[in-house]
Amino acid sequence: MATDTNLSTQGYRGTRDLYPAEMRNRNYIYEKLRRTLRTFGYEEYEGPLVEPFELYAAKSSAEIVSDQLYHMVDRGDRRIAIRPEMTPTLARMVAAKFHEIPRPIRWYSIPTCMRYERPQRGRLREFDQLNVDLFGGLPIDEDAEVLLLSSDLLLGLGALHNQFEIRVNHRGLINSFLYQELEISPTLKSELLRLLDKRDKMTSTEFNTSGQSLGLSSAQLLRLEAFLIAPIQDLKQHFLNPNTDLNGLTHLTEVFNALSGVIPSEVLVFDASVMRGFDYYTGMVFEVYDTDPTNRRALFGGGRYDNLVAAFGGDTLAGVGFGAGDVGLTLFCETHKLIPTITKGTDICVIRFSEVDRASSLALAQQLRQWGYNVETPISSQKFGKQIQAATKIGAKAVAFIGQENQLDGTFTIKFLDSENQVSIKNAKSSESEFLLLWQKECSLENGSEIQS
Ligand code: HAM
Repeated sequence: MATDTNLSTQGYRGTRDLYPAEMRNRNYIYEKLRRTLRTFGYEEYEGPLVEPFELYAAKSSAEIVSDQLYHMVDRGDRRIAIRPEMTPTLARMVAAKFHEIPRPIRWYSIPTCMRYERPQRGRLREFDQLNVDLFGGLPIDEDAEVLLLSSDLLLGLGALHNQFEIRVNHRGLINSFLYQELEISPTLKSELLRLLDKRDKMTSTEFNTSGQSLGLSSAQLLRLEAFLIAPIQDLKQHFLNPNTDLNGLTHLTEVFNALSGVIPSEVLVFDASVMRGFDYYTGMVFEVYDTDPTNRRALFGGGRYDNLVAAFGGDTLAGVGFGAGDVGLTLFCETHKLIPTITKGTDICVIRFSEVDRASSLALAQQLRQWGYNVETPISSQKFGKQIQAATKIGAKAVAFIGQENQLDGTFTIKFLDSENQVSIKNAKSSESEFLLLWQKECSLENGSEIQS
C-alpha cells in the first residue's frame, strides 16, 4: 500500500535512467565512435571518477570550479571533486609517466562527468563525454588531425557534411587583432571575450552598443565587425600594422590548407566568435555545430593547450584535443535519423514443449552458444505458439526445438522466422559447419552474434 514514506522513482535532477532500449542506441553510437577512432590509431584510457579538488581549482575553468563542481570532503578530511571534464586528469596521467609513454600519444576516453548546471535540452548534470587528445607532433599536423577526426567521427555515425559545421578560431590570432591591431586595452580582455562569445545571439546594433559601452570607438567596432565575418583567406587584409604578430594567422591558414582536400570549405570555417571558456587553451580553438535549425548546439569543443602537462612540474608537452558529450551526439543522431532500429541481438530462442524438456533444451542452447550464437532459453510454461510470438517480438532470427520426431532420430529443428523455413540438423557437435552454412544462407549477419563467414 502506498504511504507518504514511499521513495520517489525519480532520479537526481539532471541525471538519466538509461533503460536497455536507450543503452542499445548509446552502445551503437559508442561503437561507431570507437571504430572511427581505431582507424586513426587512437587508444582508450580511463582515469578516476574523483580527483583532488586542487586539480580542478588549478586547471579547469573558473566558472566550472566556482559554480559547477561537485565537491566533498572524504572521511579522511581530503577535499575531492567529481570530474567535470577529463582534460586535467589526462594532463596529470601524461605528466606522471612522461618518459615512459611512447610518442605520439593518441588517446581517447569516454568518462562520465558531472557539472552542476541547469538541466536543459542537450545539457545535463551527469553526462558522458568523449575525449580525444593528441600529443607529441607538429602543431599544424596535430591540429589538422583532430579537426579531420571530428569530421570523420560524425561521418562515421552516418552524417553528411552539410549536417554539421566545424568553427575554428585561434587565441593568438584574436589576441593579435584585438590588442596589437586595434590597440584595445588588455584590461578589457574578459569583458570583450564575453561580448564576442555572445555575438551570435545579438543584432549588429546591440553588438555595437555593447562595444561602445566598453569604450570601443566606432572605427574599432567597424574593423572588428568586418574581421569577425571574414573568411580565413581574407583575414590578412585586416592586418594593417606591420608589427602585429601574425603567427596565429599563419598557423591557422596552414591548418586550413592541409585540410582543403578532405573537408569541404563550407564545413570547415573560420569563426572569430569561437572563444571557448577554458584558460588552458593557448592556440587553435574550435567547436562543431549541428546545422539543423532545430538542434543548433555545440556537439564538440576543443583546442590546443601548451602548458597543462608542464604544470605538474615536469617537462613541457603541448597537446590538442576535444570533448563531445553523449547528450548532444544522441540528439544529433536523432535529429538526422542516424540510428537504425537495433534489436537486443538474440539470434535463436530455444523452445520447449513442456517442462519435461528442460534438460534437453538447456543442452541444445549450450551447444548453439558454443557455436557462437546468442541464445535465449524458455523460463516459463508458455504454449509453443506463444513462445514463437515472443521470439519474433524480440527480433530473434530463428527458434530451435527438439520435437518428438527429432527425439527419434537424434536431431533438433531450426525454424527461421522470416522465411519460415524449417530444417532438421543432427544434434551433435560435428554439425557446426552444416549449421553455419544454413545460417548464412538464411540470415543477414549485421546484427546480433559475432558469427563470421
Ligand atoms: P567543454 O566545451 O566544456 O570542453 O565540453 C565539450 C563538450 O562536452 C560540449 O561541446 C558538450 O558536447 C559536452 N558537454 C559539456 N558539458 C555538458 C553538459 N553539462 N551536458 C551535456 N554535455 C556537455 C571540455 O570539457 C574540454 N575539457 C574538452 C577538451 C578535451 N579540450 C581538450 N581536450
